[in-house]
Parts: sequence; structure tokens; C-alpha cells
Amino acid sequence: MANNKRLIIGNWKMNLSIHETSLFAHKLNQDMKAHKDVEVVIAPSTLALQTLSMQIDHNKIKLCAQNCYWRDDGAYTGEISANQLRGLVSYVLVGHSERRHIFGETDRDVRNKVQSVVRNRLKPVLCVGETTSERSNGETHRVINDQITGGLSNITSDEIKDVAIAYEPVWAVGTGDNAMPHEIQTVAKTIRHQVEHMFGSEAAKKIRILYGGSVTSDNVISYLETPGIDGLLIGGASLEYKKFMTIIDKSHGQGD
Ligand code: PGA
Repeated sequence: MANNKRLIIGNWKMNLSIHETSLFAHKLNQDMKAHKDVEVVIAPSTLALQTLSMQIDHNKIKLCAQNCYWRDDGAYTGEISANQLRGLVSYVLVGHSERRHIFGETDRDVRNKVQSVVRNRLKPVLCVGETTSERSNGETHRVINDQITGGLSNITSDEIKDVAIAYEPVWAVGTGDNAMPHEIQTVAKTIRHQVEHMFGSEAAKKIRILYGGSVTSDNVISYLETPGIDGLLIGGASLEYKKFMTIIDKSHGQGD
């Protein structure tokens, strides 16, 4: 592992009412032990962040925002800045495939957001991944390289230590069509190469790379055992209490 702690992030997307979110987090906080080798993070609706930040034990659970805008403040109706998220969250997802493909976020947006997150002393989780057609055209590694370069080119070699990268093939997100560990292993190598090219070998060794895309409590072990993978970004399965707890329990004690 690139870091001694495995990073497990539950991305709740636009699901659960604020009341349900609070109950879920409360139960998780009650039932979970503080694992030394696993960092458990949840990304609830932005509306729930304030309540949850007062409700949870931050030694056990950390909070993540699902998105932010890249300006710190100003006339940007409906947006939330990394500056406003300070004190509420530890992590911010940037460039999730749903942001890129439903809301048209470009590499330029992603790059500005990554920069604003680190500028505000939070940790970005940069999401990258190829679409079905890019995959069938054999473009996976080119797409990943482009997204890494596009997303990280405003970051300094000092700031890269705060960045994590989530490889989430678009065809695997929410589809049940999960990627094979050997495919993920090669993409993780491509990511580390690109990070090495941009920031040097120490940064490449240390950067945390997560896998996301149809991870379940049944297939989780194969991903935890994949060389070069330091954690998971989980959507659907993180919304089911038992499954998410099983994933957390299985992550604990698994290591290379
Ligand atoms: P999924 O979502 O686990 O439901 O495929 C992953 C994600 O969007 O981060």
C-alpha cells in the first residue's frame, strides 16, 4: 500500500433524506470501531454535512463533499466553495464521472477544483475513468493520462501529497459490471507512471489510488488484494448499512 491506511469512501450521491442520512451516520458512528489501518469516509448530501460534522467521532469517520466550485466566494448562485467546506469535511470528490458526463465538467473545471481544494487545505479525490466506447477503442490508458495531466497540472509537488486518485471506469459505475482486478492493476500502474512523470518517484510511490465501480461486500476482497490499490470508492453498496459495514470490516486487516 502507498500509505499505511486504506481509504474507504462511501459516496451517497443524491440519496437518502437528511433525516435518514443522520440516522445512518449515527448508527455507523455507534457500531464502528476506530480502525488503525482503515480510514472510513462518507460523502453525504452537502445539506447533511453540518449536522453530521457535529454528530460523528472524527477519529472514526471523516466527511467528504461530493463536489465544490473552484472560486472561493462571489456571485455564483447555487454553488458551494471549498472555502465554505473548510472545517466541515476532510475530503472533496472532484471530477466524478457523473459530474463530467451529466453536468459537462471539463478537465479545466476539474483542474481548477483540485487546485481550490488544496488551496483550502482539504484533500481532493480526483476521479478518472474511461467510457465504454473509449474502452472498446483501446483508449483507456490515453484517457487516464489525459485526465491525470488535465486534473493535476496546477498542483505543486508539495501539494500532491494531499491528493488521492480514484480510478472509476464509467462503464462500471452503478452498472454491476465491475472491472477485473488485473485491469485495475494495469491502470493503477499507468496512474503512478503519470504521477511520477509530473511529480517524481516519491510522489508516485506515496499517492493513494482507489478503485470504484460496482464494488460490493462480495467482491471487495479481490479489490483490496489488488497490488497498487489503496482503497475504494463505493456508491450503491455504501447505502446499505449491512453491506457497507461488511466492506469496512473486510478492509480492516487486509494489507499487502
Ligand atoms: P457504484 O458507484 O459503487 O454504485 O458503482 C461508485 C461511484 O460512483 O463512486
